[in-house]
Amino acid sequence: MRKSAILAMLCTALVSCIHNPESLSVIPIPQQTEISPYGSFFFTEESQLYLDVPEPDRQVLLDYISTSPISSIIYAEPHPAEDLIHLQLVNELPEVNSPEGYCLNVDFSGITIQSTTGAGLFYGLQTLLQLHAQSDEIPMCTIIDEPRFAYRGMMLDVSRHFFDVDFVKKQIDAMAHFKLNHLHLHLTDAAGWRIEIKQYPLLTRRAAWRPQATWKEWWNSDRLYVEEGSAQAYGGYYTQEQIRDIVSYAQKRYITVIPEIEMPSHSEEVLTVYPELSCSHVPYKESDFCIGNEQTFEFLENVLTEVIDLFPSEYIHIGGDEASKQSWKSCALCQSRIQREGLSDVDELQSYLIHRIDSFLTAHGRKLLGWDEILDGGLSPNATVMSWRGTEGGLRAIAAGHRAIMTPGEYCYLDAYQDAPHTQPEAFGGYLPLQKVYSYDPMPDTLTASQASLLYGVQGNLFAEYIPTEEHMEYMMYPRLFAIAEVGWSSPSVKDYAHFHRRSLNAIKHMKREGYNTFDLDHEVGNRPGADKPIHHLAVGKRVSYNNGSAYYPSYTAGGDSALVDGWHGGWTYGDKRWQGFLGHNGVDITIDLDTVIKVRSISADFMQICGPGVFMPSQVTISASVDGQNYTQLQCIDNDVVRDDAVTFKSFGWKGKTTARYIRYQAQRSHHGGFLFLDEVVVK
Ligand code: ACM
Repeated sequence: MRKSAILAMLCTALVSCIHNPESLSVIPIPQQTEISPYGSFFFTEESQLYLDVPEPDRQVLLDYISTSPISSIIYAEPHPAEDLIHLQLVNELPEVNSPEGYCLNVDFSGITIQSTTGAGLFYGLQTLLQLHAQSDEIPMCTIIDEPRFAYRGMMLDVSRHFFDVDFVKKQIDAMAHFKLNHLHLHLTDAAGWRIEIKQYPLLTRRAAWRPQATWKEWWNSDRLYVEEGSAQAYGGYYTQEQIRDIVSYAQKRYITVIPEIEMPSHSEEVLTVYPELSCSHVPYKESDFCIGNEQTFEFLENVLTEVIDLFPSEYIHIGGDEASKQSWKSCALCQSRIQREGLSDVDELQSYLIHRIDSFLTAHGRKLLGWDEILDGGLSPNATVMSWRGTEGGLRAIAAGHRAIMTPGEYCYLDAYQDAPHTQPEAFGGYLPLQKVYSYDPMPDTLTASQASLLYGVQGNLFAEYIPTEEHMEYMMYPRLFAIAEVGWSSPSVKDYAHFHRRSLNAIKHMKREGYNTFDLDHEVGNRPGADKPIHHLAVGKRVSYNNGSAYYPSYTAGGDSALVDGWHGGWTYGDKRWQGFLGHNGVDITIDLDTVIKVRSISADFMQICGPGVFMPSQVTISASVDGQNYTQLQCIDNDVVRDDAVTFKSFGWKGKTTARYIRYQAQRSHHGGFLFLDEVVVK
């Protein structure tokens, strides 16, 4: 009997105490785990690896293992008797349905991983590596595991800030560790074109470089591009050789890289260096390609031909989001295209472009993937929708028989603050803590079985406007990407946030050892005080009327007329459906009827400011009270100097004193900055 087995038996009494299902710290949590109380397998320097796997997966797995933390285990040939880690490709695995599924069995003498595919073996190996990262002692167990969704993705924005090949590879390694299988690269956008296209050298000689290092400085200045190599040129691009290297590195980790080439909008950088492709032909003017011009199609198809050659992915992402469509309305070429093709409006003109590109990609054996705006004006026949403005777009695509990938901003946009904004580096806005990402279930129960099969999966998106460094990029990604991985892989029946949180703390320790920068989950502050449980005060449930044309904005009702006295404070974002938003010139002007005349000692409301999306503090707040609803006494008038800054701030505007009143009037004026006013609750005590 080998040393490891003897040790294992001696340790049985001890380990049986610690081997409950909680002791396996794996992300994403496997579908079925049974842990035996009778012992463990111990990795030793004598452990041996045997691969019963044909090529090409055999070499892929061997290469991967040779760079992994278990690289020191001995590769055995032929089949050794014990201390064995056995990876076996089998013809059938009745326990699992997905080709990415696997079974992992650990007993005294060894570990067996079985799957019908190399990917499945790779995922079994990842589970083993996660267990090994915590201890050389692997509890005896049987794991039967498979993904819930076939598509589990991460999008990296390398346009707003450029991240080099080594950084991308490092993130591919992390993705593999958590069983993600698609890396979507946002390669082109106004802030810089990032892929070498041989036929169009200006894209990388000029459109890839700008005079400012950060997106924010560039965005707030003249948004210029400069020559590669000129003083101060910030930017970069991947050469075609580097792209092939990234694609191949990812392939060896069973990850598909999907390129995104933005069209018809987010294309200022292209239209500056090739202005003839815009409606005006004037550089630095438009963000949308001219769809009336045949040269646009020639350019896009030439670019896509090179892209197709570099990326073997089933999908090519063509963007499609946020086109302004303005220049098309007055462009003679666009208008004549509209007439010739019998299109009714600019939405249909965009759809015309998407249809043509869809046909082009289909003819070249690829499929079109685009943001949900590609639904506008009619979805093209072979398109898959990536749903980011909520999930409605994805569900509409599914209803029409198309595949959809869910990446709604509310749950999947990792550029939002992950903790109290005052404790975090500047972010895009919003508040998306780990728990909220984790709570996402992409599958509505309204789908039929055949519709459910069209819900292809889920993806985390990391747009990088406010993320200039690698450390910061990782900080925003981890641990929230763990949650995306578990949402994509594990069924809701095995998910549990408290357990996931503990596993995440372990995974963070591991990632830090591996040189990743992560958010400090151990010291998470959490949501804004008062946002997690209701408060009591004198106005809760009372009637609110809106005076003098003051009206809340339809997208930010917070629940309607009762929202400002519903007992709930808002959290760290005005988008959490607890903050009521006012956009009109009339600002806020409300009256609360307390039903009877009562003693009142304080009246206050909190406002929030985040200047990026145009949310500002009020310039003046006036608080008045009345016993009869006719004659009001002003209790307080507060003037406020509203200063534009980068912070997310919260401020209370209130009165304290002694009065008796039935009616409370609360008025707030917008500042000269305009924009929105947001308040969460008028608290009366
Ligand atoms: C997007 O966030 N504009 C897809």
